[in-house]
Amino acid sequence: MKITIGSDHGAFELKESVKKVLATYEDIEVKDVGTYDTTSVDYPDIAEKVCDDVVSGAADKGIVLCGTGIGISIAANKIKGIRCALCSDVYSARMSREHNDANVLALGGRVTGIGLAEEIVRTWLATEFGGDRHERRVNKIMALENK
Ligand code: RB5
Repeated sequence: MKITIGSDHGAFELKESVKKVLATYEDIEVKDVGTYDTTSVDYPDIAEKVCDDVVSGAADKGIVLCGTGIGISIAANKIKGIRCALCSDVYSARMSREHNDANVLALGGRVTGIGLAEEIVRTWLATEFGGDRHERRVNKIMALENK
């Protein structure tokens, strides 16, 4: 599986920690689109880089991070084809895959500690989309992009 990850300065440290978690998976290839230090950057630019890879198929999934996770998840969800879920608990991470088929996970570097973030990421990656009635609802979400 290919994963593109990116954060702004507010979550640089958590991004680096999440990359270490991803490195424990033999079947995951990670592309880091930045930022590469704690110099201030604009999170919509990072969201765009990660989501472009997901939409084009260059990545199977994306992970985006900013200070709260809010700004970068809002930005990600403006991009057609993206279903980005901001998760700060394990249950939501599982449901965002099972019910919403989220293709991008958002985390808040100033909100979620690395221990919890690791559980969130592992759960999110391990959970398959449930399909069935959830597929109908996800299709309705995607139809809203054309309004
Ligand atoms: C940057 O200071 C901060 O606004 C950003 O990381 C994020 O929290 C925005 O939603």
